[in-house]
Amino acid sequence: MGLQELIDKNSRIVFFGGAGVSTESGIPDFRSSDGLYNQKYDYPPEEMLSRSFFDRNPSEFFRFYRDKLICRGARPNAAHLKLAELERKGKLSAVVTQNIDGLHTEAGSRNVFELHGSVLRNRCMKCGKSYPLEAIEAAPDVPYCDCGGIIKPDVVLYEEPLNESVIYGAVNAIKAADLLIIGGTSLAVWPAAGFIDYYRGDDLVVINRDETPADKKATLVIHGKIGETLAAITV
Ligand code: APR
Repeated sequence: MGLQELIDKNSRIVFFGGAGVSTESGIPDFRSSDGLYNQKYDYPPEEMLSRSFFDRNPSEFFRFYRDKLICRGARPNAAHLKLAELERKGKLSAVVTQNIDGLHTEAGSRNVFELHGSVLRNRCMKCGKSYPLEAIEAAPDVPYCDCGGIIKPDVVLYEEPLNESVIYGAVNAIKAADLLIIGGTSLAVWPAAGFIDYYRGDDLVVINRDETPADKKATLVIHGKIGETLAAITV
């Protein structure tokens, strides 16, 4: 059965995605050959994105973060837009994403579980005051709150726990799904990658350029561009 038939047949679809969903918006992913983790830096990128590095070297952290993780100007692509349309038409119940770019919400998706947070949400570590992304972008170095505390992005760094309510919502949506579509992710990072194990439905779809660990248990595997693949779906 092809992707169109599987989507036609189901109405509690959940999409589980990663950085590969945003590459067609011009945002590089992490582990592809041209991805973030294959570029040269003074420190390993996964170290720079850890909480201990943030605490030890905030200036270096924010330099890397502003340079590589804030992708101003990126717009939702066909994949984001189609997923939002599927939700509007009552076919898709949730998007569970590892991305922090906010593009699913910008595309119109309403029920989005951002497992790794969002660059759009920032908060003072001392008084809790919220700040927009501009406060991070405009700061010449470490961004400080009026109270003197550091403004930290609401992004889950390595060594940090995921948000409890996001975990709860994502797991419940996946458990209740009648079709799980996994797309644009290498499933290399835990605990995010483990969320797909809560799925109890019959059909599993993987849409990913490269092979993933989920391919072998999928009923349909499409090794191609996710934007193009979803754009071809009619709802
Ligand atoms: N269409 C389909 N698949 C694509 C496309 C595309 N246009 N572009 C890239 N891909 C695939 C790649 O083949 C790759 O398997 O998307 C996957 C992206 O994998 P990663 O770069 O590992 O990104 P992701 O799975 O989201 O990483 C998870 O790692 O460092 C952490 O917190 C970070 O959330 C991130 C997590």
